[in-house]
Amino acid sequence: MSNIKCIGILTSGGDAPGMNAAIRAVTRAAIYHGMNVKGIYRGYKGLITNEILDFKTQDVSNIIQRGGTILKTARSEEFRTIEGRAKAYENMKAHGIDALVVIGGDGSLTGARIFAQEYDIPIIGLPGTIDNDLYGTDSTIGYDTALNTIVSAVDKIRDTASSHDRLFFIEVMGREAGFLALNGAIAGGAEAAIIPEYMFEKDQLAETIENGFRKTKNSSIVLVAESELTGGAMGVAERVKKEYPQFDVRVTILGHVQRGGTPTANDRILASRMGVAAIDALMEDQRNVMIGIDNDKIVYVPFSKAIKEHKPIDAKLVDDLHMLSI
Ligand code: F6P
Repeated sequence: MSNIKCIGILTSGGDAPGMNAAIRAVTRAAIYHGMNVKGIYRGYKGLITNEILDFKTQDVSNIIQRGGTILKTARSEEFRTIEGRAKAYENMKAHGIDALVVIGGDGSLTGARIFAQEYDIPIIGLPGTIDNDLYGTDSTIGYDTALNTIVSAVDKIRDTASSHDRLFFIEVMGREAGFLALNGAIAGGAEAAIIPEYMFEKDQLAETIENGFRKTKNSSIVLVAESELTGGAMGVAERVKKEYPQFDVRVTILGHVQRGGTPTANDRILASRMGVAAIDALMEDQRNVMIGIDNDKIVYVPFSKAIKEHKPIDAKLVDDLHMLSI
């Protein structure tokens, strides 16, 4: 059994729907097991500037359904420096915090890993990002909600695309990962997805035009993952204007609408399970692991793996989309 008496919790990096459900679960599980909880505002930035408050069970009431993060979030440049992390450690100790739970994406867990190594602090990460790009977990908190937002946008765009016989390129987020684009395309019945993982494998645009739009369809929807590799929806549309000028092309960039909104039931359940698991992990003396979900089972993924290893796209899904869009 660990002798952790007080935990600090923070959200960091891009917000994701379900972060509040995770904050609630971590707070209540910790209090249930007799620990004190400190809420750290604005991520690592607040740890450095000492924005740290006591959290009681009622502080996390009525938040499970809310998007965003009640703890607020930030991307802290100062935490990247040795001096910044030294200040963060001093504040942590001054508040009697023995361990941290960090909810965030790749960059946030990278920061957690460095901090944990430097100061020998137990830190547990929860994967909170709409991008679903963390290795070792089938899903990240916020991904399902973002996917549903994308699908409802695709449904609406399809109405106007088919009325005008247009070819639409819809750009979705994902940083350098194509999970939102690929699964958004499957769920939205789109004709194709252009994703960074396949940029060097094949000409995804030519394949889309030749196999679908040109032969059987008057309107088409293609999801494009934002990425330097894909060139984004604008880049792809420019290419179509030059190479296939016969098409009436439009672009929609969904942008930050994908980050907001009330979390889906799946995200709330995932966040709740992962939040409880974070406290279980600390009580089992686990440290420097990210909580993941693998085949519906909670798993502990070392930070080194979660951050460094590349989460692969399922090639079968790419084939399925291709088959279903004929
Ligand atoms: O990582 C989440 C994410 O929404 C990415 O999909 C996107 O590339 C990035 O954050 C946008 O960041 P910001 O909100 O700082 O513009």
